[in-house]
Order: sequence, then structure tokens, then C-alpha cells
Amino acid sequence: LAGDEVLVVSNREPYLHARTRKGIEVQRPASGLVTAVEPVMRACSGTWIAHGSGSADKETVDRNDRVAVPPSNPSYTLRRVWLTKEEEKGYYYGFANEGLWPLCHIAHVRPVFRSSDWEQYEAVNQHFADAVVKEARTDDPVVLVQDYHFALLPRMVKEQLPKATIITFWHIPWPNPESFGICPWREEILEGLLGSTILGFHTQLHCKNFLETVDRYLETRIEHEASTISYGGKLTQVKHYPISIAWPEPNSEQPSVAECRKTIREEHGLPANHLLAVGVDRLDYTKGIIERFQAIERMLELHPDLVGKFTMIQIAAPTRSSLDEYQNFETRVRTLVQRINNRFASGNYQPLILKAEHHDSEQVTRYYRASETCLVTSLHDGMNLVAKEFIAARDDDRGVLVLSQFTGAARELHEALMVNPYHIEQSADALYRALTMPEAEQSERMRSMRSLVKDFNIYRWAGRMLLDAARLRQRERIMS
Ligand code: G6P
Repeated sequence: LAGDEVLVVSNREPYLHARTRKGIEVQRPASGLVTAVEPVMRACSGTWIAHGSGSADKETVDRNDRVAVPPSNPSYTLRRVWLTKEEEKGYYYGFANEGLWPLCHIAHVRPVFRSSDWEQYEAVNQHFADAVVKEARTDDPVVLVQDYHFALLPRMVKEQLPKATIITFWHIPWPNPESFGICPWREEILEGLLGSTILGFHTQLHCKNFLETVDRYLETRIEHEASTISYGGKLTQVKHYPISIAWPEPNSEQPSVAECRKTIREEHGLPANHLLAVGVDRLDYTKGIIERFQAIERMLELHPDLVGKFTMIQIAAPTRSSLDEYQNFETRVRTLVQRINNRFASGNYQPLILKAEHHDSEQVTRYYRASETCLVTSLHDGMNLVAKEFIAARDDDRGVLVLSQFTGAARELHEALMVNPYHIEQSADALYRALTMPEAEQSERMRSMRSLVKDFNIYRWAGRMLLDAARLRQRERIMS
């Protein structure tokens, strides 16, 4: 694809400018998608089209709504798209996050479908599709469409730029046909996605679910062997590409594991040999945060000798907080934390520390390095990059990952301690096992996972998709 034009479309922007008391600040959002796609964009210097959501975003763009990023060392263009309050409410909060998000994550939260949200979702998809066409300098760019906010966009772009190669990646799970079938606009969504040249999911299971959903609701030709769908004279390749992270460069300025262990404990008033678990999530009901805390309570019941000697630090970035479901969830989390802390507290000791605020990646890395174990207990998750970040942070080959079997990451990280987060007793046992695991076993498991994540890094993810796209483009050129 050397020399080809690359455009990315996502809802969330990689950098936002916010007006604070100290002036305009650049912030990075808490988003697995942004974590993954940003290093790719830095490497291929294209244009990233996203919703301008920062309070000072309008003041920092040029007259074409563009800004060069990363601000400290510009290497690609961010083109911001503006949405009205109404559009944001219907498209983002409504259809994407009250409809598609709970529909695709089986977390037993009922999806809400409103016609008015759907209308905004369609309009905003068209709005972004027009921005893609306007930004494209050639008639055959490579367009990388990200996530469930833009299910209709691939087809819309294809109609205006028939020679474009459209690679769509769905970052969340795809459910089975019965579950997906309750969406009142299921056919439109499937047709929209089939405007893609390549449609990627994290796992084979999500690909299979998608093919079966298409089979159930559209008249298409599906080649199961080749995993292609032919619809309206166009071919879409459906394939799994497990997403990953950029493997960290050796960094002599990074505080050592020993320093992180010491300073994090000091900052929280804990003794040097205190046992720590860490959780890093958006405050989202799919992440299994309640089940995680229940497992901790159970572990302390079963092992009272650990009361006073063990603490879990939960970093929870606020997210989508204007939605009722998220506000209720936060209240439930806080109530549970209080109850468990009251139960086991003595003196200054509390087993749970909830830090419900945004932390930047350096801060998060310090917690990863300071903890004996990282708990990832999602009820359902496309991939979960926290699991991979924890592994990448442990260059001491120590630390234990406790991982939900319902994450995409569980298909790759076999040396983690696997749990069913709904099974509280089992998670409590896994946590205890993590805290008491001999160092040799920790190191064996960690080394094996580190070599996997190092190899299957984010450049591999993007590289595999772009290579597949290049092959398809070449084939098309030969055929035409
Ligand atoms: C998930 C989604 C992303 C999204 C992120 C953060 O990882 O797959 O598309 O950006 O959550 O959510 P938010 O609604 O804050 O963008």
C-alpha cells in the first residue's frame, strides 16, 4: 500500500483540547480503540476524521477544521467533525450507546431503540461519510472505519467513492443472530457494513456470529470456506484480526518496578510488603467491576489472614455519565465499595480503593508495575487491552493476570488465570492463587505471554489488514 492514501474514521478523537483554569490542555481519552489505532496513524501519517468533542477543539483547528497531531511532534492530520447537541444525543448516547453497545455485549442490560436516535445515527453517518469524501485526495483511498458508531458509513462511502478500499473494524463483540435480531434496523446495519471490502472482528467466534446473522436476515451468497459475503454485486471479506498494543520501547527514564512498588504503597499509606491488586477500566457495566469486588469480599472471608494485608486499587475512568444506566452503575459500585470497606476496615485500613477519575498512561503503568496482580473480569469484551498493557508493563517477568474467559484476550493469553466472572467463588480462588503464586511460576507464565504480545503487536494487527487490502486491490486492478 506504499504511497496509498490512508484515512481513519472514528467517533472518539485521539487528542482533544480542553479549556481548563490553567488554559488550553491537550487530553487523551480512555479508549481501547484510540490506544490501538494511534500508533498506526503515527507510522503512516494519513488523516484521522473524528468528532471534535473537546471544549477548546474549535479554537485549535485551522479553517478546514484540521489540526496536526500529536501536538508535541506532529505526524498526521486530525480532521474534526462537529455535532450538534441533538446529533450527539441521538447518535452517540442514544443509538450507539443505549442501543448497539448493550445489544452486542451480552451483559444483561436491555438495549433501548428509539426511532429518533436512529434518524440521528443515519444523519451523522452521512455527515462523516461526506467528510471522508471531502478529505480524500484520490478516488481510491484506503479508508479504515472504526467501530459500532459507523455501521452505515462503509456503504455510504462506497456509493460516492466506488474505488475506495474500505476496511471496517468492529471493536466490540458481535452477538448471535437471535440476540442481534431484536434490533429494529438490523437489515440496514448489515447492508451498511457490507459496503466494506474487509470487515474485521477480534475473534473467530464474532466472525461466525456475523456470517450467521447475515445468513439469517439478508439474501446473500456466503462462501463459508473463504469467509466472504457477496451482496449487491460487491464482495466483503470477513476475517478476525486480534487487536493489540504498541510494545513499549526500553525507557531509561521509567521508574523501576522496585520504585513503583515503593512509591505507590507510600502514596496510599500502605506498608512495604502490602499485597496489591489493580483494576483499570472505564466505569462501564460490561467490565465486571461489581463481580470483581464481590470476589474480593469472598476471598477475604475465606482467608481472613489477608485482611489488613491486601488492597485492591481500582482505577475507573468516568464514561458516558449522562446516561442513566451509567449513573446507576456508578452508584451501585460506590455503595458496594462502602459496604465491603466497612466490613473489613480497621484503623486506616480499607481493602478497596476506588479512584474514579481519569489517569494518564504513565500513571497507569506505575500501578501495573507496583501490583502483584491485575484483575480483568469483563462480563463480555471485544478484546480488552488492559490485559495486554499489564503484560507489556511487567519487564520484571513478575505479576499475575486474572482474566475473564469472556474477553477476546482470553483466546490468546492462555497463561493467565482464567475465570468466569459470574462465578464469584472461582474468581475468589483465582485471586488467592495469584497472590500466593510462586515466583518461578509467575515468571514462566509472564514470559510466555510477553513474547506473544511483543510479536502480535498493533503493527501486526494493522499490517495484516493492510496486506489483505493490498492483495484485494491488486486483484481488482488485474481484473479491470
Ligand atoms: C470502547 C469502544 C470505543 C470507545 C471506547 C470508549 O473501547 O469500542 O469505540 O471509544 O469504548 O468509550 P467512549 O464512549 O468514551 O468513546
